[in-house]
Amino acid sequence: MHVDLSGPPQTMLATLYAKALDADSPHSILHDQYAKSAVDRLDYDWSQTTITRRSAPAVAARSAHFDLWVGQFVAAHPRSVVLHVGCGLDARVWRIDPGPDVEWYDIDHAGVISLREQVYPAREHAHLVAASVTDPAWLSDIPADRPTLLIGEGLTMYLTRDDGLGLLNRVVARFSSGELQFDAFSRAGIRAQFTNAVVRRPGSRLYWGIDSPADIAGVVPGLRLLAALPVVEAATFKQLPWPYPLMGRVMSSVPVLRRMATYHRYAFGAV
Ligand SMILES: C[S@@+](CC[C@H](N)C(=O)[O-])C[C@H]1O[C@@H](n2cnc3c(N)ncnc32)[C@H](O)[C@@H]1O
Repeated sequence: MHVDLSGPPQTMLATLYAKALDADSPHSILHDQYAKSAVDRLDYDWSQTTITRRSAPAVAARSAHFDLWVGQFVAAHPRSVVLHVGCGLDARVWRIDPGPDVEWYDIDHAGVISLREQVYPAREHAHLVAASVTDPAWLSDIPADRPTLLIGEGLTMYLTRDDGLGLLNRVVARFSSGELQFDAFSRAGIRAQFTNAVVRRPGSRLYWGIDSPADIAGVVPGLRLLAALPVVEAATFKQLPWPYPLMGRVMSSVPVLRRMATYHRYAFGAV
């Protein structure tokens, strides 16, 4: 299957390949056989992603972290809606395997969704939406009668602040209760983007830096902070092989590095 993507959509090839490499490792964190089979089916020069066996586990750890939080939401709300925004070719719906009363939406640009259709089988209660998450139109097709989770992994930094806040505000306004879960880079992290080959290589750009939960909860009415966890302090990061534990200890002790990448989790409405 031929792959022809550029810009932000191309970056999901890096995260996919990282998960495939992780799945092959005897110390796999995510055990994502779906990523492995997707990589096998796509005709692509994977060296272009710049992901290596050494960098792959950090990407897999991020997905494992969100699997934990998404799994908690779905367990607490067996009748719910999940909006997996900027899904790329991530196989979270298969890894989490939610029950039949969860309506799951994978949302990404059309080129990515078209690849998803070719790479993964259809699944009951799982829906594909080819749209920019910044377009308000797609949300009106989503049922609004259940607790709703918006999960965006590796997405917010590709959005401008206005577009990102617009998306969060629309979700909180449309659904009566639920959660927002996403990771974010700080403004310093955004400034350091030239060091990030996964972003630089496809000609992508990062925009939105989030320094603290107040940047979100202070401007999206109705949110309650559940967690703002530095990535280097997450349990899944602590599982990583050498040299990550050392890197984590150093980063944790320097405030600007500690806040460079954070997992955010908020609740809204009566959940
Ligand atoms: C770094 S990848 C992460 C993919 C996936 N979440 C993962 O962790 O493997 C970023 C993804 O966000 C998507 N994305 C960026 N901006 C978007 C937008 N405005 N609308 C929809 N998807 C977007 C890209 O197409 C890409 O699939």
